[in-house]
Parts: sequence; C-alpha cells; structure tokens
Amino acid sequence: MVIRPAKISDSSGIAMVNVDAWKSTYKGIISDEYLDNLSYEKREQAIRQIINTADDKKFIFVAENIDGRIIGFASFGKYRENDNDINGELYAIYILKEFQGKGTGKLLYRCAMQKLKESSLFPVIIWVLDENSQARKFYESMGAAKVKERFIHIGNQEIKELAYIVI
Ligand SMILES: CC(C)(COP(=O)(O)OP(=O)(O)OC[C@H]1O[C@@H](n2cnc3c(N)ncnc32)[C@H](O)[C@@H]1OP(=O)(O)O)[C@@H](O)C(=O)NCCC(=O)NCCS
Repeated sequence: MVIRPAKISDSSGIAMVNVDAWKSTYKGIISDEYLDNLSYEKREQAIRQIINTADDKKFIFVAENIDGRIIGFASFGKYRENDNDINGELYAIYILKEFQGKGTGKLLYRCAMQKLKESSLFPVIIWVLDENSQARKFYESMGAAKVKERFIHIGNQEIKELAYIVI
C-alpha cells in the first residue's frame, strides 16, 4: 500500500471510495433518499475538478493498494472559511469499509498533517458529524481536540457538526 498525491486517472477510484464510504458511514445519520441519490459519475466530475485545481494550498492524496486499487483518500489545504486563528483544514478522509481499521487512515492522516505543516497551514480544523462516533474516536486517538460545534444542512436535514483542532 502506498500513499501518494492523486493523479487525474485516479478520479473514478476516488469517486467510488467517496460514494461507498458515504453510504456505509452515514446510513442512519443522513437520509436514505439523499444517500441513494449519490452518483459515482457526478462525484467523479467533482473529483476531477479538485485534482485539476490542486496547488500549494489544496491537496488530494490517495491510498493505493498493492493491486493498484484506490482504497482511500484525503483532501486538505487552506481553511475554506475566514478565521484568524486557523489556517488549514482536513476537508475529507475516507477509507473503503473493508479496509478500515488496518492503519491506512492513520498513514493518510499523518501524510496530510505533514504536508499541511510544510505548507505553513497549521493549526488545522476538521469538521465531523457529531453522530460519526467512529471518526470522532479516530481524530481523538490522533490527538485532535474538540473545540466547537455548528449545525449544517445536508439535503433537508439539519445536522450537528463538531470541530476538532490540530495544533
Ligand atoms: C475514520 C477513518 C478515516 C479512520 O481510518 P482507519 O484506517 O479505519 O483507522 P486506522 O486503522 O488507521 O486507526 C487509527 C487509530 O484510530 C483509532 N480508531 C479507528 N477506528 C476506531 C474506532 N471505530 N473506534 C475506536 N478507535 C478507532 C484507533 O485508536 C487506531 O489506533 P491504533 O491502530 O493504534 O489502535 C476510517 O475508518 C473511515 O474512512 N471511516 C469512514 C469515513 C469517515 O467517517 N471519515 C471521516 C469523515 S469526517
């Protein structure tokens, strides 16, 4: 397994991980209607755009299995909101369900944090759904600290998110 910056040819693999991980992670948290509407094709378009516009403030890395399959990805970079105290953000980190709990998330997370540090994008914020207890435990085990909360709209639901900070 290797961790490396994403290439445009990874777009469909990343989109698959993204959609499948959303469905397995958020079932029971986000409505079935919303999750059923997620599509590989639409997601692939968005991922292509992210890879094409990656620069020294916006990154996307993949975890590639020994057989060449994309099994996880992380996207991260400059914080998308204005905040004097926070510079970087881990936008997303997703590992395919059957590969979770094997250390891949930890490797991707560490690569992301290293790159953010090299890019002078610390401290880093991570927004996570309150009900996503697996991810919250993961971030806590990696040393991130919970600092604040907000409500966001996903489809027609209002969902609580927590912010973790990495200093
Ligand atoms: C959260 C996620 C990225 C973690 O990646 P992973 O490869 O499964 O995690 P790892 O195997 O690298 O685990 C790293 C550490 O996190 C902790 N951890 C991971 N999953 C955990 C769980 N379910 N419960 C408690 N601790 C957990 C462990 O302490 C582990 O440390 P250890 O190996 O020293 O025991 C991954 O499980 C995932 O993609 N989940 C679904 C999508 C998601 O929620 N993404 C985050 C959105 S904000």
